[in-house]
Amino acid sequence: MRAKIVVVGSFNADLTSYMQRMPRPGETVHGDAFITGAGGKGSNQAVAAARLGAEVAFIGRVGADVFANLAYELWDAEGVNHQFVGRDSEHATGVAPILVDSSGENMIVVVLGANNHVQKSEIDAAREVIAAADVLVAQLEINYDMVAYALETAKELGVRTILNPAPAAALPPETLALADYLTPNEIELETLAGDTSTDVETAARGLLTRPDQIAVVTLGAQGAQIVAPGLSKAVPSYEVDVVDTTGAGDAFNGGLAVALAEGMALEEALRFANAAAALSVTKPGAAPSTPYRADVDALCAR
Ligand code: RIB
Repeated sequence: MRAKIVVVGSFNADLTSYMQRMPRPGETVHGDAFITGAGGKGSNQAVAAARLGAEVAFIGRVGADVFANLAYELWDAEGVNHQFVGRDSEHATGVAPILVDSSGENMIVVVLGANNHVQKSEIDAAREVIAAADVLVAQLEINYDMVAYALETAKELGVRTILNPAPAAALPPETLALADYLTPNEIELETLAGDTSTDVETAARGLLTRPDQIAVVTLGAQGAQIVAPGLSKAVPSYEVDVVDTTGAGDAFNGGLAVALAEGMALEEALRFANAAAALSVTKPGAAPSTPYRADVDALCAR
């Protein structure tokens, strides 16, 4: 049976410029290429999970504008159920101007627009689908009260939750406690921990409030580190040629959700998620760069 995943999150139109190096404040540099593509951490994670073989429903909100068409075309093409996506007549679809340099590193500004106006009614409408899901995944590109509401709903229905606390924000401990798996990168971990002086393990351990809660800290090219009561283990990633790191965290989270939903043990799940993230950086763009199942399985088997 296919894994069932619900993703609650953002869709953004990514406006990506590729250049040799990032401009300094006040400086103008020449770009080499420009692409308008589908992005948004939530939608990227939904597409990643779908390409890895899961049945995926997406809950979010877009505007009544031309960028929303990009979203519907993508979800239809990828088989992502978008019946719980609200259409907002007052707020525009989210946009994300992105700069990518020749090393593949990125800088992103998100203008959330409609993403910030997800309604309780949109989550309530998906209650049955959430109840039937193996895993619910959320991030921080929608209004935070709806992140908490979605996680609460999933917990109430006995569904496992992943909170990818991205982009970085300080969150109340009550919200963090609703996540079975917390998946910050190092910057997000620092922000959540509110302390830049500690090491990854100590900072991650400080976030855990339940004995069955697990932190998975993503470390870029180094892979990821599991921190759980009585356990701290690094799971290395795969060496690849980097073109564009945009969406690597999303491929990781989509991969982790599918792996856990399929019943993989935690370390194996991290290897699978690492492989998804590694393959995603070998191609430009966010959603378009998320890999398919056969490629991830092949990399894991290498
Ligand atoms: O994680 C990458 C994503 O962050 C981009 O697609 C952009 O839209 C921002 O949300």
